[in-house]
Amino acid sequence: MEIGTGKSYAKIILIGEHAVVYGEPAIALPVKSIGLSARVAPLPDGRQEVTSAFFTGDLNAGQLTNFAGIAMLIRRLLVFFDASKQGFHLTITSALPSERGMGSSAATAVAVVRAFYDAFQTPLTRTALLNWADISEKALHGNPSGLDAATASAEKPQWFVRGKSLRSIMMPRNGVLLIADTGIAGQTKVAVDLVAQKLKQAPKVYRPLITDIGTAVRQAALALAQDDIIMLGQLLNRDQADLAALGVSSPELDRLINVAIDHGAYGAKLTGSGMGGCMIALAAEDQAPTIIQALKAANAVKVWEYHFETK
Ligand code: MEV
Repeated sequence: MEIGTGKSYAKIILIGEHAVVYGEPAIALPVKSIGLSARVAPLPDGRQEVTSAFFTGDLNAGQLTNFAGIAMLIRRLLVFFDASKQGFHLTITSALPSERGMGSSAATAVAVVRAFYDAFQTPLTRTALLNWADISEKALHGNPSGLDAATASAEKPQWFVRGKSLRSIMMPRNGVLLIADTGIAGQTKVAVDLVAQKLKQAPKVYRPLITDIGTAVRQAALALAQDDIIMLGQLLNRDQADLAALGVSSPELDRLINVAIDHGAYGAKLTGSGMGGCMIALAAEDQAPTIIQALKAANAVKVWEYHFETK
């Protein structure tokens, strides 16, 4: 084993979360300005340690519940490399807030897998990377679509259909996405389980919402192809209405979304699993400062600006 490194990015779902679990398409973006990196170095005495921005501990201690999936992933990686007894120190450095809909668990998995493959000097395909990330994502979320890891490992915005399609997609030439954090934790498993329960209990009420999200995502792809940012904004609003009807918005998310719309955003919605976490607003460049100020005045704990890459 050598010293190995791996990186990944925060992800923002532009449109299609939750319905993507049930086979509808989604569009998501890696946010390269919010990154995560993993560095693994061999330890001669057999100790297996992990330190990071969000958790510190001994891999064998198992006291960190939100880390259990990553610990399991690391154990499986070591078996794969025939190095179960190998000592190492893994450091994870992250600019991603956790439990805010930005994909911190998937980004951790992606960077960790890349770091171990680098340490064992083994080439890694994208498919293998996503299969590995699925191990910890399943342990943490139960039924992940795979969208988070696919985006955290990408360099460009992605069009994603579970198990079927993963490709880059063009973004608008103009405009900016504002990402605002409510400061409230939202757990993916809780939100995904809630939607599953509702679909089981009242399919006639909730299934059409899933289908409508899928339709909005397909129309969003058309709006992107036509560089129609106004239509895209309207589709984000329609998606938010469906997500709220599914029960995964929250009063804090609704407040920030309304503030963004009232201050001139083309559209706004929650992003990620919801029930807390972050919202996004699509805006014209010259409108962004006003909206940012209003979001901060409405208690957003942090606001990021995401400028579309046009190449
Ligand atoms: C979570 O970031 C996105 C969800 O659609 C769940 C998933 O795709 O696995 C809510």
